Amino acid sequence: MEHIVAETSSDFAQAVLAGLGQPRKTIPARFFYDEAGSALFEDITRLPEYYPTRIETELLRRHGMEIADLVGRGRPLIEFGSGSSAKTPLMLEALETPVYVPIDISGDFLAASAAALAQAHRQVRVHPIAGDFTGPLRLPVLARPLVGFFPGSTLGNFPHAAAVDLLRSFRGTLGARAWLIIGIDTRKEAAILEAAYDDASGVTAAFNLNLLHRVNRELGGTIDVDSFAHRALWNDAVGRVEMHLVATRPMRFRAAGSVFEMAEGESIHTENSYKYTAEETRLLARTAGWQPVKSWFDADQQFGLHLWSAPETILEP
Ligand code: AVJ
Repeated sequence: MEHIVAETSSDFAQAVLAGLGQPRKTIPARFFYDEAGSALFEDITRLPEYYPTRIETELLRRHGMEIADLVGRGRPLIEFGSGSSAKTPLMLEALETPVYVPIDISGDFLAASAAALAQAHRQVRVHPIAGDFTGPLRLPVLARPLVGFFPGSTLGNFPHAAAVDLLRSFRGTLGARAWLIIGIDTRKEAAILEAAYDDASGVTAAFNLNLLHRVNRELGGTIDVDSFAHRALWNDAVGRVEMHLVATRPMRFRAAGSVFEMAEGESIHTENSYKYTAEETRLLARTAGWQPVKSWFDADQQFGLHLWSAPETILEP
């Protein structure tokens, strides 16, 4: 197994300097996933309030055979933002995958997950790529068609235009006759959404606040983390859950060599999680050059699993 280290702490320093230097402060959500953050995210996926993981896993289990009948068995599987690869075994088994390419920004976490997966699935060749899946990617040489796998509603972190660009770049990376299996969270009641991002046991709060600990650890930050509060809110007008870190008192701190000031009540916006109706999902697919093939939802339409194809799949004889 080989991998290329992509994320450096100077990416983080640059993003923090740029994000905290704006009138409305932000730190991009991709920086949640250091070692502590990745472990906290795994805890989130097991929370009673966090329905996406539970429902998506159930959909993959229930419809794996039908997906295999549609895309064919024995195709290479390319996973974008693989994390712990928790749902991957369901796909490897249903699709009889010979080669699995997990792509993730968190190099150490990726190496460990890939090694564990290779151990448990001896018939699968695992070829991890450590890197940013939003950038251009070079896959190993593999027989087409390739099957892309983008579960977990990760697409939700991208604003609409960036989501379209990303999905289009997947098409480029996967090449002709590709398939994409993608999980997307649906629009629903504010109370359910807000509970999923502000759980009673405080795990999501710890996940959000870890970003400030990470600034202190890696960028010489002097942030008093206890003076920040986690806040999650559903923004219905734009169809997204927002996470913020709200200053509970006026403060001044250093980070990445600069000094920042915050007023009481001012926030650092750390995440957007966009939600889509079934109709919006089809529109998104078509706008990005994918052909919607089939969608599966749970009975309450809380989460959707979608199969899309590159148009050549349909048009080519
Ligand atoms: C990994 C982006 C899909 O938006 O639901 C979970 C991240 N943030 N709880 C999501 C997350 C807070 C998650 N994604």
